[in-house]
Amino acid sequence: MFWRLLFALAITLASVFPAFGAPEDVLGLASQSTDKYVFAHFMVGIVGNYQLEDWKIDMAAAQSTGIDAFALNCANIDTYTPTQLALAYEAAAEVDFKVFISFDFAYWNNGDTANITAYMQQYATHPGQMQYKGAAIVSTFVGDSFNWNPVRQGTSHPIYALPNLQDPAEATTVAAKSADGAFSWLAWPTDGGNSIIPGPMTTVWDDRFFRFLNGKTYMASVSPWFSTHFNTKNWVFICENLPTLRWEQMLSLKPDLVEIISWNDYGESHYIGPSEPNHSDDGSSQWAANMPHDAWRELYKPYIAAYKSGASAPTVEEDKLVYWYRPTPKGVVCTGDSLGAPSGISMLSDSIFVATMLTSPATLTVQSGNNSPVSVSVPAGITTSNVTMGVGGQWFTVTRGGQTILSGQGGLVVKDNCTHYNFNVYVGSISRGF
Ligand SMILES: *[C@@H]1O[C@H](CO)[C@@H](O)[C@H](O)[C@H]1NC(C)=O
Ligand SMILES: *[C@@H]1O[C@H](CO)[C@@H](O)[C@H](O)[C@H]1NC(C)=O
Ligand SMILES: *[C@@H]1O[C@H](CO)[C@@H](O)[C@H](O)[C@H]1NC(C)=O
Ligand SMILES: *[C@@H]1O[C@H](CO)[C@@H](O)[C@H](O)[C@H]1NC(C)=O
Repeated sequence: MFWRLLFALAITLASVFPAFGAPEDVLGLASQSTDKYVFAHFMVGIVGNYQLEDWKIDMAAAQSTGIDAFALNCANIDTYTPTQLALAYEAAAEVDFKVFISFDFAYWNNGDTANITAYMQQYATHPGQMQYKGAAIVSTFVGDSFNWNPVRQGTSHPIYALPNLQDPAEATTVAAKSADGAFSWLAWPTDGGNSIIPGPMTTVWDDRFFRFLNGKTYMASVSPWFSTHFNTKNWVFICENLPTLRWEQMLSLKPDLVEIISWNDYGESHYIGPSEPNHSDDGSSQWAANMPHDAWRELYKPYIAAYKSGASAPTVEEDKLVYWYRPTPKGVVCTGDSLGAPSGISMLSDSIFVATMLTSPATLTVQSGNNSPVSVSVPAGITTSNVTMGVGGQWFTVTRGGQTILSGQGGLVVKDNCTHYNFNVYVGSISRGF
């Protein structure tokens, strides 16, 4: 954090003594406070059938949310990786969007330097490539001990390596020192690894990244949710109000870069992208089908704009609400599921979450199933409220000065029975005039 203080001092000096000149020339820090970009993690592994047009549809939705680039998570075991990377770069160039490769080191390894270098050499100067400080961004999932120096030397254009470090203390290792910064995957409440701890999310990991990176570029991660139910991984992280809380943390921490986890990882239930008719199904349709998350993009949009402008709070231009809730209370036993309930669910509350996006204060009323309606006063701006989940339909109303300004029913009925466990959430929005 020391450099931030220095930077604040430099700004102060420059404004008090204009003749002091551009402080960045003296301290070399100014570029660190500008160029805020937001990316989204994109799983190439499920879009082996994509055509150029499919990429453009996703990119248009991302652009209208304020997202600058996709981090293309790819595996070398997928034979279509070269084809899909080529299509993604081509689509990005055509629609003025950006992409960069995020090598998934669950599949790549430290011996893949030649192939990784070949990819960087192929795409570093592509018009679709995301550049940062004049260099082509490249990132990873895990891959903590990969040495970036040979890739840098083997690529004729500068590269900007932001590998994922599973532990921020690794920033002092020789491998991490070959990088330009680091990306955190710790976007949910955890004590590290995949340990599950109670919410709400804190910034303890971000603080450690700032400390160990000591001024190098920090790419923080933002995610709205996490629930997965494969036989190889079956747990939830305690997210609840995370869709807004995490952005509030970003607005106060102001990391150099933000990557949203994720655009289309249905398997872990943290997708914010639109329904993709042409993605393949790894089994996650069991919990992701008919569970839209599109309204999270409406919620994210003003936060992204605020993060980029350096504002400490989002600006709301239109009254709206965004709600999310699970299909069943956590205690319901599902009758057709041999896998058992995911780990971590005992720490969840049975709640309906509502983010009000308001131009001025109002009253939110939620009727959840047969529970009595609950009314809360909500301020202008974005506020997440919750009420106790009741089985049945969900109704949302916002009134101001005796007038109903927003009213509608949730898109999913909460049930007290189930065949398979599903701790994903249904996300919807209610705008004026609907
Ligand atoms: C999606 O897949 C369909 C076939 O299922 C194909 O005809 C189409 O070209 C693909 N892309 C788009 C954008 O529809
Ligand atoms: C990386 O290796 C894969 C598998 O051998 C190959 O298909 C691909 O073309 C290589 N990429 C580059 C850029 O050389
Ligand atoms: C629900 O809202 C109350 C305030 O009304 C708050 O104390 C509590 O932490 C919230 N619960 C969750 C899970 O966010
Ligand atoms: C499951 O719950 C829904 C809603 O409460 C109810 O309509 C339906 O009959 C229930 N199904 C079974 C098999 O109990």
